[in-house]
Amino acid sequence: MTTSRRSFLKAAAAIGASLAWVGPARASRIHWQERRDLYPQGVASGDPDPHSVILWTRRPFDGQAHQFLTVEVAEDEAFHRVIAQAKVPVSSAADWTARVLLGGLSPARIYWYRFADADGNGSRVGRTITAPLPNDPRTVNFAFVSCQDVNEGTLNAYRRMIYEDERAPAAEQLGFVLHLGDFIYEMVEYPDEVQTRYDRTIYEVARIPDGHKVGNFHIPLTVDGYRAIYKGYLLDPDLQDARARWPFVAMWDNHEFSFQGWQSIVKAGSFEQPGQSVKVAANQAWFEYLPARVTRGSRLLERFDPPAVKNVPIKEFDDHGLGMEPNNLAAINSLKGYRALRYGRHLDLIITDQHSYRSADSFGDPSLNKLVGKEFMGMLPESVMQILDGGRAFNGGNPPAVVSHNDVHVPNPQRNAPPQTILGMEQKAWFKDKLRTSTATWKIWGNSLGALDSRADPQNLPAGLTKEPWPPHTFAALSGYDYGTAWTERAEIYQHVRDAHITGFAIVSGDRHSFWAGYASAQLPPGKFEPVGLSFVGGSLTSAGTMEAYEHKLPKDAPLRALFLADKEGGAKPDWTHNMLLKHGVRSCLEYAKSFDLKRARSLSNPDLAPHLEFVDLGGHGYSKVRLSGDEMRTEFVCIPRPITRSEGPDGGPIRYRVVHTAALWKSGARPQLKTSVLEGDIGLAM
Ligand SMILES: [Fe+2]
Repeated sequence: MTTSRRSFLKAAAAIGASLAWVGPARASRIHWQERRDLYPQGVASGDPDPHSVILWTRRPFDGQAHQFLTVEVAEDEAFHRVIAQAKVPVSSAADWTARVLLGGLSPARIYWYRFADADGNGSRVGRTITAPLPNDPRTVNFAFVSCQDVNEGTLNAYRRMIYEDERAPAAEQLGFVLHLGDFIYEMVEYPDEVQTRYDRTIYEVARIPDGHKVGNFHIPLTVDGYRAIYKGYLLDPDLQDARARWPFVAMWDNHEFSFQGWQSIVKAGSFEQPGQSVKVAANQAWFEYLPARVTRGSRLLERFDPPAVKNVPIKEFDDHGLGMEPNNLAAINSLKGYRALRYGRHLDLIITDQHSYRSADSFGDPSLNKLVGKEFMGMLPESVMQILDGGRAFNGGNPPAVVSHNDVHVPNPQRNAPPQTILGMEQKAWFKDKLRTSTATWKIWGNSLGALDSRADPQNLPAGLTKEPWPPHTFAALSGYDYGTAWTERAEIYQHVRDAHITGFAIVSGDRHSFWAGYASAQLPPGKFEPVGLSFVGGSLTSAGTMEAYEHKLPKDAPLRALFLADKEGGAKPDWTHNMLLKHGVRSCLEYAKSFDLKRARSLSNPDLAPHLEFVDLGGHGYSKVRLSGDEMRTEFVCIPRPITRSEGPDGGPIRYRVVHTAALWKSGARPQLKTSVLEGDIGLAM
């Protein structure tokens, strides 16, 4: 056995896949006849490197426990030149999912694959693409996507992506799709119980055998529940076609486990409980349904082998907020998702896990609700949020005993808590090491959570609009769960980028259900604005966003309504001033809602509010494409209309706009600079 083959065997064992190895090309030796009905979840491939990729399918068999499939891999779509054939075990223990690590491939090549059972009943044909060699200077193209709630929407964005990719010149076709999470939503609605939400029709997606119900939502608590959801989602024809066209590189966000869950704690609104066995179940189903080079606690081939854990309260936390309870540690360590992929000379893709190791919510203490009146629509003073984020380390270890807003004072609930961490210590050390040692032109941080500040300047509101004024010296933060408010950890990472003289650092994120483009800066005015890289957030594929929620929920008589929606005469849909609020501030919004004069509104822009933002659209859906070369990063937002019903046409329906953000590679210590251009469509108030 050659060394490369031996190390390959080891790699396959570590990620829990069976093996297939490439040999000389010959004709197919199986009597493959396509029977898509027997492979209801289609095929997929994942995590390509220059010589290997993982292939996936699911073929259930009734009344049996084990079976074998055959996988065939060919250099041509007609399977005249088959270069690999291997037996692939499937079993009820893995819900009949198959994972094959296919090795011995050539770099930067397209291959086709298919599965068949002993009778020749075959899966559809899938296409996959290997990564270029690390010294290959070719341009790298990939898409990043997130948030595909098929319970409440349709995947027209994938249809559009496929349509455009099929027509693109070979050098511009996508090499892979980076999926930044919310591949499923664990909160499932049943159409016979609830027919609509916001603008959406509720579509049947799954029935959860072991569900707990929170409001209208059924949530799973065992592996069969999570499996049912993956099976339901993968029936979607557009998702299936996308997985059959490109290899996916996937990382979970929150909804693959639990809406507001963290470590192994399940939380969805008022429902909160120790969920060690639930986290293991979520990991197992993710492992079974998403082919990826992730490592498990176990060493069993092809199977997840869940550790036995008990759901017991977590009482002891270490200095970094990690719950030391053994069942918690066993649960979160049952699957390690963070990893890095090299793709040619120009890309190191470093992917992190934002939920398994994070500390407790720094902003969730109910006493904080007393600070600011409801008229401010959930805004919190940035200065207070920074105190909470810093925990006991704030102000050099001397956090204030009390946090205040105007004349409301509450005891600082984070005074004795560790500073907020999203990555946790171990993963963060790994991440910083990956960044420091990367030799690729671009170091792209695939991070499910957005990193751009979402803030407003209510200190500039005219007197009398609200009952109480906003204090003059602090901005307002509009969210508190992602890197937009993880000031301490963000600063540590950005300082590391600066200290290690790293160039070509850029973040791609999801989760926010909106498109954002801007700069990675630890601080904003009145602090120092010092970007060390670029930062992007991609719109959701389907999931409802902030603007859709506000169109339905924001009271007509809310005193600050004009900061979010500008109402028009005659019942036309309001304009989304919320976008303008984040980039230009309250004065621009109030002017726009009065005059609808964009130029005049922008002339009142507050330059200190958002030097980090070039573009923000809280109402956009779609996907994002990245093109990396030796001297430029080009990020394209392809925005589609609200995906409520499935588009009938092959192109996935119309697009709302296409916007391109380019940045030349900067020298270490220099400031990156984005150039934004609207290629087509109407971006509304997004700039
Ligand atoms: Fe989402």
